[in-house]
Amino acid sequence: MKVVHTIEELRDQLRGQNRVSFVPTMGNLHEGHLSLMKMARQHGDPVVASIFVNRLQFGPNEDFNRYPRTLPDDIAKLERERDVYVLFAPDEREMYPEPQSYRVQPPDDLGDILEGEFRPGFFGGVSTVVLKLLSCVQPRVAVFGKKDYQQLMVVRQMCRQFQLPVDILAHETVRAEDGLALSSRNRFLSPEDRAEAPALYAALQSIKQRVAAGEQDLATIEGDATQALDARGWQVDYLAVRRQRDLLRPEAAEIAAGEPLVVLAAAKLGATRLIDNLEL
Ligand code: PAJ
Repeated sequence: MKVVHTIEELRDQLRGQNRVSFVPTMGNLHEGHLSLMKMARQHGDPVVASIFVNRLQFGPNEDFNRYPRTLPDDIAKLERERDVYVLFAPDEREMYPEPQSYRVQPPDDLGDILEGEFRPGFFGGVSTVVLKLLSCVQPRVAVFGKKDYQQLMVVRQMCRQFQLPVDILAHETVRAEDGLALSSRNRFLSPEDRAEAPALYAALQSIKQRVAAGEQDLATIEGDATQALDARGWQVDYLAVRRQRDLLRPEAAEIAAGEPLVVLAAAKLGATRLIDNLEL
């Protein structure tokens, strides 16, 4: 695997390649990331991965400085898996040589709901860096995880509206055996919180069961699950059943007609904020 830190080296490595597949990450790689790279390998060649902790997508009170940076470990994992041909690991000056004054602004009805409501500016920061990374790598396909369901949708719509010549592929959420979605932030959980953490996925599953059983009062279902988590010591930011196609609330008639739904949640356990979702 070639590790490159500059856009120029990246371009040199990829010259003449037109089937590049790409997996952008912020590093601290786990099995979730690695399986995205396996999927990328099935859909293109060579596979490029990137590791860049993108300051633009962190709010002033968020964990940018604390975000785990483990490049040597990450490189060792990628070398072991042998799926990635080029790892692009730029530093901040390479990605943002001047203040990033042109930004991608996602539409309010997608960028400011759910995660966007609790993390103002987050999806603008994600969209801007993903556009830049796509422009550096120029892949034919790029793989994103459903773990970040709304992010996947933001990226898809951005690529469609800007007519970027890239296919965005979605990978299922990779979970620990007890159901907890793998995340770089799980390492911040205390042992007690780690033991409690699967309750978030369990809450999503119980909602799925109730909807599957024909219950249609979503507000009650969401409220019950939120209360149950709060009672166990969680602080729920949101827990919401939405339409898969646009993440807006379904009408009663749509639920009855079998509109594809997804339940999305974000909740804090101690200082650690976890997100998860489940298609219904
Ligand atoms: P990061 O959190 O490192 O995630 C990189 C990619 O891995 C994303 O597409 C994410 O959805 C996926 N991923 C993370 N955990 C996963 C899991 N348990 N199962 C499946 N996929 C998983 O998301 C970002 O970085 C950044 O916002 C980025 C897109 C790189 C832009 O900075």
